[in-house]
Amino acid sequence: MPAPRDRQFPANFIWGAASSAFQTEGSLDVDGRGPSIWDVFPRERIHDGTDASVAADSYRRYGDDVALLADAGLKAYRFSISWSRIVPDGSGAVNEAGLDYYARLVDALLARGVAPYATLFHWDLPQALQERGGWTNRETAERFAAYADLVTQRLGDRLKHFVVLNEAAVHAALGHVTGMHAPGLTDAGVLGPVIHHQNLAQGLAIQALRAAESDLIVGTTMALMPSRAEGGVLSWFNEQAANGFDEVWNGAFLDPLFRGTYPSVPQGMVESVLRDGDMETIRQPVGFLGVNYYAPSYMRFNLFAPSFIEPAPAPSGTERDAFDRHVDPSGLYETLLRVRDQYGNPPVIITENGCSDPFSDGPAVIEDQFRIDYLRQHLEAVKSAMEGGCDIGGYFHWTLVDNWEWAEGYRSKFGLVAHNRETGVRTEKASYRWFSELARSGALDGAV
Ligand code: FCB
Repeated sequence: MPAPRDRQFPANFIWGAASSAFQTEGSLDVDGRGPSIWDVFPRERIHDGTDASVAADSYRRYGDDVALLADAGLKAYRFSISWSRIVPDGSGAVNEAGLDYYARLVDALLARGVAPYATLFHWDLPQALQERGGWTNRETAERFAAYADLVTQRLGDRLKHFVVLNEAAVHAALGHVTGMHAPGLTDAGVLGPVIHHQNLAQGLAIQALRAAESDLIVGTTMALMPSRAEGGVLSWFNEQAANGFDEVWNGAFLDPLFRGTYPSVPQGMVESVLRDGDMETIRQPVGFLGVNYYAPSYMRFNLFAPSFIEPAPAPSGTERDAFDRHVDPSGLYETLLRVRDQYGNPPVIITENGCSDPFSDGPAVIEDQFRIDYLRQHLEAVKSAMEGGCDIGGYFHWTLVDNWEWAEGYRSKFGLVAHNRETGVRTEKASYRWFSELARSGALDGAV
């Protein structure tokens, strides 16, 4: 990866922070909210045995979040809308109190000059829809489009930026094959239907959004990562495994959206649910592609693993994050160039990037120099990619305030700001100040 030629980002580059409803809001049982699949996911499967009933307490304290964003000079906030706050059973009556919360949040952001970016689905499917098959059921895609339409009808006069799906690959694989995430299924046989119905939902929702309000900027977010093969004597077989994984993880979402086709491995998996016209519905122009990046993946061949593919450890001697993944900004650079070269150089926004404290049940690290280093390195990758012609318009840090990190519970902390759940006190970390200076000046510190 080349070093950036200069360290000044353009003045119109969007600096923001990202979060999601279930991880951040808390207040799960108020104002008519219905349960999502994460409400019923067993607590025993969460590493620290916690639930998200407090989280970052943002349902009650969204005003503090808005102040933190605005005071830091951030120009945008990506949050997600909880489907089951708005349509508690997924497809029936509308819950006005749920809609009101997002209207208040949007208005508070706009009042402080922070552009709201709303993700419509960040993994918290209404439990009522899961009971009817969830994403294995084609009907969920239609319900999703109706919910997207409802949100735009009510909020589209003020809320102009949408991220339709968050990381459909993660939701498909971790929620339905490994069982690490809700809905906790361990059935590789449903992977194809879950992939396809999310893609279809995305296409239908993009159409619905555009039909409701023509001036919306509609994107969608993918968890893109290079799929690298473990070396060694089996490296040829490992290459096949890595390529197969790449088709299912990256290609199964990029290709349908930008080309209207599936790569061959996922094509075989979706055939049973694919209907005439689906690929035309899925292939939609987007205002931007959201790229989330944390680390590359390593894969290898294993005769005894499902589909003969299994994750491999990162090469020895490399720097690791709290999840034991390779800290490698060149993976982000490689991903951005791939999007440029293989998918027609669409406008891209980095919708998530960041790193966790080392896992701990104790308080957050406030002097988080490791986070500043991680961000600086990854932003160098973004800048180099821009200098290479990639059309990248913004960078959203994951996340603003420490929150509830899915299967890890509270032991993983990604925030620029710490949150004490007993006292409610929020404490700005060193990275908050660093990121704030960057957002104001656009100048990345450190020598080239
Ligand atoms: C991403 C998710 C986000 C958060 C970060 C750490 O995969 O989109 O909700 O869990 O990882």
